[in-house]
Amino acid sequence: MVFACFIFTVNVGFKHIIWLSPLKSALVIKLKRPYILAIFVDNQIILKEFLMKIFIDTANLNEIKEAASFGILDGVTTNPSLMAKEGHKDVRKTYEEICKIVSGPVSAEVVSTDYEGIVKEGRELSKIAPNIYVKVPLIIEGLKAVKTFADEGIRTNFTLCFTPSQAVLAAKAGATIISPFIGRLDDISQDGMQLIEQIVQIYGNYGYETEILVASVRHPMHFVDSCLIGADICTIPFNVIKQLVKHPLTDMGLEKFLADWKKNQG
Ligand code: E4P
Repeated sequence: MVFACFIFTVNVGFKHIIWLSPLKSALVIKLKRPYILAIFVDNQIILKEFLMKIFIDTANLNEIKEAASFGILDGVTTNPSLMAKEGHKDVRKTYEEICKIVSGPVSAEVVSTDYEGIVKEGRELSKIAPNIYVKVPLIIEGLKAVKTFADEGIRTNFTLCFTPSQAVLAAKAGATIISPFIGRLDDISQDGMQLIEQIVQIYGNYGYETEILVASVRHPMHFVDSCLIGADICTIPFNVIKQLVKHPLTDMGLEKFLADWKKNQG
């Protein structure tokens, strides 16, 4: 049996809500939005939309393939610097390759800075694959272009966000994703995570649909804090994704278990 249910919860902010489905299974949801869509399939709730999503922040195809093989990858972000680092001259071909590996959102950044140019480039990029999100710089021309893309049903990712006011305008323009760059703020002695807290609160206050993607991640604590604050997505360099799973006590413990098992065998 499949059914869906809207729960309207105006102004509940971050409170937990306990809700009983008609089949009497208790559900606890940490609400971030004024409303939430709960979908049930045979009494199992599908909460994928409300889970922290992990994207890889790279244009390196081998890294994307390997991260995808871990089974935890939800999407990919790239930018012109990451493309240049890998020496990808034919970016269209690179996006085609990436979209063959990953079915989730793949951000493809425009390099135009005027409205007409951004719209033209974005429309072309959006034709590459259905999972392309057009990545647009958070400037006035970008706002105008994102509004047009939203009207045309083209999904977008606003990049280079450094203030809560930019994030509000991005949401009002209809951006699908906002990318606050926390590492670059930390680099200039400003607390990047504070920006995420502010955007999460503001979007929660008004129920903006725009997803908050934590970008410019430098280390595992950025990921942990993003989860604690309740961001929607974290885009992470490949070396940091691998760090997320590492712990010396896990390695030492495993070594001891295997040694004891071997001793016991014979
Ligand atoms: C991703 O969308 C951003 O372009 C990227 O995270 C920026 O990271 P950096 O600040 O390490 O260049």
